[in-house]
Amino acid sequence: MATIIAPSILSADFSHLADEIQKVAAAGAEYIHIDVMDGTFVPEITIGAPVVKSLRKVSDIVFDVHLMVEHPETQIKSFADAGADIITFHVETTRHPHRVIQQIHALNCKAGVALNPGTSLSAVEELIEDADMALVMTVNPGYAGQSFIESMLGKIHMLYHMVQEMETECDIQVDGGINAEISVLAREAGANILVAGSAIFGAADVAKAIKDIRGKEIHHHHHED
Ligand code: DX5
Ligand code: ZN
Repeated sequence: MATIIAPSILSADFSHLADEIQKVAAAGAEYIHIDVMDGTFVPEITIGAPVVKSLRKVSDIVFDVHLMVEHPETQIKSFADAGADIITFHVETTRHPHRVIQQIHALNCKAGVALNPGTSLSAVEELIEDADMALVMTVNPGYAGQSFIESMLGKIHMLYHMVQEMETECDIQVDGGINAEISVLAREAGANILVAGSAIFGAADVAKAIKDIRGKEIHHHHHED
């Protein structure tokens, strides 16, 4: 599966969001990862649907919306109407994650399910057949610029096997502390969508940063012969 790079808007200059999105799109990024925080599930408050709606007018890039909010079911329609392409919610934030996937699909968006570092894979086992993407958080959500939690590599690998065994299509996204070196490990473990904030927006040469994180193609040896 080809690698997809999703720069996280959290590390962009919020006073020039349109320029920042256009910059990473021109530099080869496939997605822009939009971190939505509610001040409750995570401490900070970031971006809401009205901002996403304005940004939709200035770019055609895939809007990968990462909801870090309680009660995601109350927010999904606003973000879909604002122009989200993918809506990812945390399984920790709802008792009815499968219904939320159905809601997202009914609004013609792709659905992602996210897991905090402390949440077991079993929380998504019954969801990945219907979800389009599973997001393994490799830092505790809330802030850019944290260190990658190495013990998440095993979780990524187990998820990769779970998806293979179910013979379903589900992208595996990783988010938190990703740079060019860690990208290799994450992709070897089975991730195919890489979110990176500080490593991309903090770089002097954004195109080079994206190219370095994308790296060389990795060949997995299972089910590919
Ligand atoms: C963390 C956010 C991430 C974050 C990534 O809560 O979900 O998307 O912005 O930033 P880096 O790549 O700097 O860890
Ligand atoms: Zn994120």
